[in-house]
Amino acid sequence: TERVGLDFNLSEEQMAVQQAARDFAQSVLLPGVIERDTEQKFDKDLLRQLGEMGFMGMMVSPEYGGGGMDTVCYAIAIEEISKVDASASVIMSVNNSLVCWGLEAFGNEAQKQKYLTRLATGEIIGAFCLSEPEAGSDATSQHTTAEDKGDYYLLNGTKNWITSGNTASVCLVMAQTDSGKGHRGINCLIVEKGTEGFSVGRKEDKMGIRASDTHSLMFSDVRVPKENRIGPDGFGFKFAMGTLNGGRIGIAAQALGIAAGAYELALHYALERKTFGSPIFEHQAIQFKLAEMATRIEAARLLVYKAASEKDQGKDYVKSAAMAKLYASDVAMWVTTEAVQIHGGYGYVREYHVERLMRDAKITQIYEGTSEIQKLVIARELLK
Ligand code: CAA
Ligand code: FAD
Repeated sequence: TERVGLDFNLSEEQMAVQQAARDFAQSVLLPGVIERDTEQKFDKDLLRQLGEMGFMGMMVSPEYGGGGMDTVCYAIAIEEISKVDASASVIMSVNNSLVCWGLEAFGNEAQKQKYLTRLATGEIIGAFCLSEPEAGSDATSQHTTAEDKGDYYLLNGTKNWITSGNTASVCLVMAQTDSGKGHRGINCLIVEKGTEGFSVGRKEDKMGIRASDTHSLMFSDVRVPKENRIGPDGFGFKFAMGTLNGGRIGIAAQALGIAAGAYELALHYALERKTFGSPIFEHQAIQFKLAEMATRIEAARLLVYKAASEKDQGKDYVKSAAMAKLYASDVAMWVTTEAVQIHGGYGYVREYHVERLMRDAKITQIYEGTSEIQKLVIARELLK
């Protein structure tokens, strides 16, 4: 049959995932989301439920305990969860697209059997450890060292800003083995919590995504068996970059969800709130804000789904993932700020949720590569 136009429709499975994530967010995550943000905590029981729903290893093949779903399903789930709780979605995003996906794509069979099966079900949580106090955007300048000692590596250094740093049982740690080789001398090691010399630093007191724990991690003469290295010697930086390409789709979906959640609250509020004898939606200034919010969200959604589809189709998605993250994170920041404005004074207090979404939005322009780094990535791709 002749193809007509582009197909922007979700499949049955994608719609089912959307509905399940939406229901879960409303019934399980919404109650208590303000308290979790205030108290900076995410209960173990909620993590367990995320795992039971299949949200912790969505793209992992069923052979290793995962959902075997495509990236579009994953992005849709992240979007729905983020409408309500962006702390929950960053925990999901790191576990799904950085830890599980990285292990499945680049790990060996023994590593998958040992770690992936438990990570994919949410039985244990993983962390991805690239950033350091002096290596964020400039990620090749790793100060953490993994000295080759024959059958093990001796790991020394500090990782910063690690999502789920305290909760995680398994950490994928990038470290420099041969500084003479620059980024080609970096390795990625699977390091288990509880290994001697491995300690967790203080918890960061953050502006947003406050229920997700962010910690520095310290390594002092930690012995990591050679069998825990992912890929061949010197593959660590390629591992990190290759994994982050997909991670950026997850964060773009998170930004999209934060924006869409704030927009839905603002639209509802604009229809309820009356000034000068009519709902504020009747004032063109408010209507125009909502029209523009809806338009930018739709544009962000198209970029996110396109990047996810390209990944599913086995195409090169470096540029589309970076574009999706760059654009969706700006949309999240702008839409949430306008959502607070539409709520007036009520927007400025915890109870109405939009101030939290505005605080949560900001991080999407910073982590997994700042907006400036996304532009750098896109610009380099333009020359290819
Ligand atoms: N995909 C695949 N490979 C890539 C890549 C990409 N997107 N970007 C770079 N590479 C490869 C290059 O091909 C190169 O390899 P070769 O030399 O073998 O060809 C190697 O990586 C080094 O690349 P560059 O020479 O371009 O290195 P650079 O130092 O000039 O720039 C960078 C690299 C793009 C700026 C990179 O350092 C970067 O992405 N920085 C941002 C780091 C980041 O995103 N951190 C996120 C931490 S995790 C996190 O934040 C989780 C969370 O919050 C929830
Ligand atoms: P810097 O790199 O010092 O950047 C400072 C400013 O300079 C930014 O505006 C940046 O865009 C700009 N800049 C830097 N270089 C350039 C350039 N070449 N051109 C133009 N502008 C430039 N990391 C992990 O490894 N794992 C995690 O789980 C993780 N989770 C995080 C969770 C939170 C809540 C936060 C805040 C961070 C997390 N990060 C994590 C770290 C995050 O990825 C880094 O903070 C981020 O990559 C930026 O690095 P930086 O903070 O060192 O800023």
